[in-house]
Amino acid sequence: MSKPKSNNTKTISVALTLCLVCSVLVSAVAVGLKPSQIENARLDRNKNILVAAGMYDAESDTPKDVAERFKDFEVKIVDLSKGNYLDDDALNEAGIPDRNAYDASQATKNQALSEDLGDNDPAGIGRVPKYAKVYVKSDDAGQPEMVVLPIQGYGLWGTIYGFLTLESDMNTIKGISFYEHKETPGLGARIEEPEWRAKWSGIHSYDENGDVATGVTKAGNPKENWVDGISGATLTGRGVSNMIQFWLGEQGYKPYLDALREESGKTIDNADTQASQLTQPDNQTAQPTTELAAALPVANGKEA
Ligand SMILES: Cc1cc2nc3c(=O)[nH]c(=O)nc-3n(C[C@H](O)[C@H](O)[C@H](O)COP(=O)(O)O)c2cc1C
Repeated sequence: MSKPKSNNTKTISVALTLCLVCSVLVSAVAVGLKPSQIENARLDRNKNILVAAGMYDAESDTPKDVAERFKDFEVKIVDLSKGNYLDDDALNEAGIPDRNAYDASQATKNQALSEDLGDNDPAGIGRVPKYAKVYVKSDDAGQPEMVVLPIQGYGLWGTIYGFLTLESDMNTIKGISFYEHKETPGLGARIEEPEWRAKWSGIHSYDENGDVATGVTKAGNPKENWVDGISGATLTGRGVSNMIQFWLGEQGYKPYLDALREESGKTIDNADTQASQLTQPDNQTAQPTTELAAALPVANGKEA
């Protein structure tokens, strides 16, 4: 009787060929899906901009509907320290050839496009971009009706990304949305819920001295112009509070918002504070910030 031939070489070559075929297939699928992943991420981000702007309609949210509503916004790149828009020359000089493709989060990985916050980093973001991408909706007279500002900061488990919309006074909050985070479902993730997000609408960001005067309190401690936190999610609430205060502050959008307000001749007027926010204070205080005026050369751009 003949012994079965040991055929290790054949077995190994079949296994290797199989591995090679599988890896080529997986890579091809990954590469093939990349454009639709990028497109879906863009669509999701644009939806969240509409949510923060109070312009999202769940009943008509096809890509076409979202794109149609999104047309109302101009994309602008803001120099955060000066508070002005970058025109095309300044964009080229800054190494941002396409404002629509600019990603401020990615820019924080580039030394030339961002600054190290060192110990002065309440939002836990490490580096702040020098330039931010904002979305501006103007009224018929060409005046900003609202601005949607990207915000990000560390929650309990990771970085939370969102958008904050301010009304034309650059003080009253119109809405807020969060589109990426690692908080726990049922606890910190409740920041996404419409009921909690609705608490932000109508509150004021700054006091009459121009200092940031909003944030998130611990649950059950209502305070004028602050949002009541989520029970069992104090740490996420603190993260959201810190990020809001950071981005509304001097290192964030404050120079830009001051400049917009100055340009439109508006001042901070909190006389219309809603009765629901006039409740007893707790012991939390907002971070102080200072005034900084800036000129506003205009550069336009529509997001594709
Ligand atoms: C598994 C697990 C997940 C948690 N996730 C969150 C979270 O996403 N956000 C948060 O603030 N707290 C979370 N907590 C609770 C925090 O540890 C902490 O107890 C809570 O923030 C305190 O809030 P409270 O003072 O309102 O009770 C989690 C706790 C556990 C055990």
